[in-house]
Amino acid sequence: MRFDDHRVVITAAGRDFGRTLAIRLADLGAEVFLSARTLAAAERVRDEIRDRGKQRVHAFACDLTDPASIRDFAARVGGQTDHIDVLINNGSRYLAGPDLLSASDADVVDTIASGATGTVLTVKNFLPLLLNSVKPDVVTMVSACGTPGHHRSDAHDSFYAAKNAQAGFVDILSKRLRPRGVRVISLYPPDFDNPDPLAEEWETTPRHARAPLAAQSLVECVLFAVSQPRDCFIKAFHFEQV
Ligand SMILES: NC(=O)c1ccc[n+]([C@@H]2O[C@H](COP(=O)([O-])OP(=O)(O)OC[C@H]3O[C@@H](n4cnc5c(N)ncnc54)[C@H](OP(=O)(O)O)[C@@H]3O)[C@@H](O)[C@H]2O)c1
Repeated sequence: MRFDDHRVVITAAGRDFGRTLAIRLADLGAEVFLSARTLAAAERVRDEIRDRGKQRVHAFACDLTDPASIRDFAARVGGQTDHIDVLINNGSRYLAGPDLLSASDADVVDTIASGATGTVLTVKNFLPLLLNSVKPDVVTMVSACGTPGHHRSDAHDSFYAAKNAQAGFVDILSKRLRPRGVRVISLYPPDFDNPDPLAEEWETTPRHARAPLAAQSLVECVLFAVSQPRDCFIKAFHFEQV
C-alpha cells in the first residue's frame, strides 16, 4: 500500500497518535502537512520524518481553540499546494475526571473548543483545498465516548461533550459532503495503546484477542479506508471493548 499521490493534513501531530500517523503516512510516500499546538513541536516531528529520508513533510503551528490560528494554518498550507486529499482531524484535548466539579471553567472551555469547535473550523477552512482533490477524505478521530450511551471512560463530562459534538458534526457532514465527492470517515476507538512507531515496541506490541486496541490497528484502519475505491465509503469504525 503506497500513498505517494496523497497530500495529507494532520492536526495535533506533535506527539502520540498524530505523530504516529504522520510518520507512518510519510513512510508510505504521502506528502504530509502536519500541525501541532506549537511550531516547535511540529518541527520536531517534521525533522524526525526528514531524518528517515522523507523530505515531503511540512510543519505548522495550529491551536485548535483559536479560529485565527486554524485559518492561518489552512492559508499557509494553501500557499504550498492547490489541493489536499486527506484531512485527519486528530487533535482534541483529553480531560480526565468523572466528577464534573473537578475541572476549572477554563479547562472545560478548552476541552470543548479544541475537540468540537476546532474540528468544525478545521474542516471549514480546509474544505476548499479538499474540493480541489479528485479523492478527498476527511478522517476524524472521535472516541467511544462519542457513541450514544457510552459511560465506561473516566474522561471528564466536557470531553464527552466534545466527542459527542464531533460525532454529530461528522454524521451530518458525511451526508452533506457525499454528493460533492468527499468521504467523511470517523473512528470511535476505546482507550488504545500508543507505542512509539520509531521504537522496537511498535513491532512487539501484543495484538492478540485479549490485548487492548493498539495504535497500529487504528493506523491500518485509516490506511485501509482512504485507499478504497470511491464507491466504498466507510463511514465509521467502531470497536468492541476488551
Ligand atoms: N488515546 C486514546 O486512548 C484515545 C481513545 C479514543 C479516542 N482518542 C482520540 O484520538 C485522538 C488522538 O489521541 P491521542 O492519544 O494521541 O491524544 P493525546 O495523547 O491526548 O494528545 C492530544 C493531542 O491533542 C493536542 N491538543 C490538545 N489541545 C490542543 C489545541 N488546543 N490545539 C492543538 N492541539 C491540541 C495535543 O497537543 P499538545 O502536545 O500541545 O498538548 C496532543 O497532540 C484524539 O482526538 C483523542 O481524543 C484517543
